[in-house]
Amino acid sequence: MKIAGEEIELPLILAPMAGVTDVGFRAVASFFGADVTVSEMLSARAMFANPTKTQYMTLTTEQEKVKIAQIFGHEPEFMQMAVQSPLLEKFNSFDINMGCPAPKIIKNGEGASLMDNLSLASKIISTCKKATTKQVSVKFRKGYRTENFLEFAKMCEDSGADYVTFHARTVAQGYSGTADYDAIATVKAKLHIPVIGNGDVFDEKSLKLMCSTGVDGVMIGRGSLGKPWIFAELSKDKIKNYDKGFLGIENIFDSKGKITNLAKFQTVKKHIEILREKFDEKWLENYIRKHFLWYARELSMTASVRNKLATCDNIDECLKILQSSWGISKD
Ligand SMILES: Cc1cc2nc3c(=O)[nH]c(=O)nc-3n(C[C@H](O)[C@H](O)[C@H](O)COP(=O)(O)O)c2cc1C
Repeated sequence: MKIAGEEIELPLILAPMAGVTDVGFRAVASFFGADVTVSEMLSARAMFANPTKTQYMTLTTEQEKVKIAQIFGHEPEFMQMAVQSPLLEKFNSFDINMGCPAPKIIKNGEGASLMDNLSLASKIISTCKKATTKQVSVKFRKGYRTENFLEFAKMCEDSGADYVTFHARTVAQGYSGTADYDAIATVKAKLHIPVIGNGDVFDEKSLKLMCSTGVDGVMIGRGSLGKPWIFAELSKDKIKNYDKGFLGIENIFDSKGKITNLAKFQTVKKHIEILREKFDEKWLENYIRKHFLWYARELSMTASVRNKLATCDNIDECLKILQSSWGISKD
């Protein structure tokens, strides 16, 4: 499919995740083969009220090749200004968030609540589309108060969306239950624009199931938490020619084709190194804790190691805890 100006067959996309997909995380996920990355959701209004915050959220590195800015809002004029903003110039395309279930977003008539307001949603999409030559896509759920995903998806297509991303859960579901792959297959069968499938892809088995819906691309969110190497595990051939300088080690795979513990540890270090170049250490000490805990969970660390990480507020100490629990000898 054509995505953000590039022709990519079945792209694997790192999902937008507010408070998670920072510049370092997007860089390491890209290194491991995420074809496309999406920024955290950016408020079209806040972009003008507080450009500094948006600047931090939209930092990128050279590792990210195809990158999308995700915007949200309920005012077409602010959404238009957002896609034309110099702050977002470096992004290859725009995604409009019409799926966020967070109460503070819903109460402003933004995110998933737009699924109950098709005329406004349509106006936002067509206004953005007219305002830029780049692709404009829409990410949505199964429905807000009713399950109107098919009607909504067709509205996106008719309003000029270049493709859609469908997380097949209702707002009420949050993250409970399972993503409805039949609903994804239905949307794929009825639309003429590409459809990205999203929801519950954690491994090869679930990826295969998602692909059986006929989707044109797959977006991965929670499956990447503490595990940005998931993209390499799902598609090894995509990182055949990896940049050996990036993690500072020659080999990232062992003789059986598995990513080594050393490569994983170097990934955590690289994630942090990139953040340290851009952010204040005090802020980072707080922010990075959740990532440390996700990394520890993925690497099956014991409860006592996780407790140590949860209470440690010195980043180098945390790295040492991970390194020794992991049995990594190289510094
Ligand atoms: C911590 C977190 C933050 C998220 N933030 C966003 C966001 O900013 N924009 C968005 O469209 N979706 C957001 N999502 C939803 C994900 O992009 C994705 O649709 C959802 O997690 C389902 O995919 P998964 O099953 O692969 O996780 C977020 C999800 C999580 C877990």
